[in-house]
Amino acid sequence: MSRRIFVSHTLPGEGFRHLGEHCEFEVWPGPGLIGPAALREAASGCRGLICLLTDRIDAGFIESMRQLEFVSSMSVGVDHVDVAALTARGIPLGHTPGVLVETTADTAFALMLAAARRVAEADAFVRAGRWSPQQAWAPEFFVGTDVGGATLGLVGLGEIGQAVARRAQGFGMRVLAWNRTPREVPGVEMVDLDELLGLSDFVSLHVALTADTHHLLNAARIARMKPGAIVVNTARGGVLDEAALAAALADGRLAAAGIDVYEREPVDADNPLLMAPNVVLAPHIGSATLKTRARMADMAVANALAALAGQRMPHCANPGVYRD
Ligand code: DGY
Repeated sequence: MSRRIFVSHTLPGEGFRHLGEHCEFEVWPGPGLIGPAALREAASGCRGLICLLTDRIDAGFIESMRQLEFVSSMSVGVDHVDVAALTARGIPLGHTPGVLVETTADTAFALMLAAARRVAEADAFVRAGRWSPQQAWAPEFFVGTDVGGATLGLVGLGEIGQAVARRAQGFGMRVLAWNRTPREVPGVEMVDLDELLGLSDFVSLHVALTADTHHLLNAARIARMKPGAIVVNTARGGVLDEAALAAALADGRLAAAGIDVYEREPVDADNPLLMAPNVVLAPHIGSATLKTRARMADMAVANALAALAGQRMPHCANPGVYRD
């Protein structure tokens, strides 16, 4: 039986360096990311696949991969994978929960501070040479919103939401949260979603993208938010209606936003958020530290090696495939 596996991108970390000691593998040489057609061709006939969140592992791809025995994604989110189609074939899907929690929470907090205190706008202002003697300092010059002491609403109180809550407590914030299944977390008040939206100065999104959470923060819910509130999204772009958020920013109902993830990535040139005022944008860097990316890659490799050895993946997104 073929032991060949396909890796859709070179990976950081120790595990990838030693992968060749355990199996035969091919890796996409680049440059850049592999596209869907090239992935289908290159991965054809392989027994396993290590992929990134940019690879579309849809039903058609899965159907075409008749020898596929496992998929291991270097991501915690698995919305790029048709999990039901894999599960129907009994194929385990590995992912990387846990290791990116603190790093992603840092990113959410960085965006919250940057959006509230207009850091990106201020940086551009200084670099453009617009900081003139006429505009050296004035009572209303670059005023923003206080983070310390404000109310933070967490939409989703999983591990990342809880890590953001811990940071917020250090800033003396009142922390509210809504979660599909209520959780008891010290210092966090569980409320319903509408109440959270009406009370929060900052709303930070921490839910996985599923059919139920698609456009969870839509125009109707944005209209229920506290005027002057700030939205932060480090979850998935599809969780919010980007056009509705851009409209609320343009008409001044919301003060600002910090956005790391988009409905389509890389972001389209005509994405309304690019034109909206007071938005700090980042290119999906939530987990982007050297240490965290290496740990994610090592987990993805460990999941693949377990599957190759006929063992249970240590971090499986569809554990129902294991019958024991
Ligand atoms: C993930 O792993 O799903 C994250 O979005 C990566 O930053």
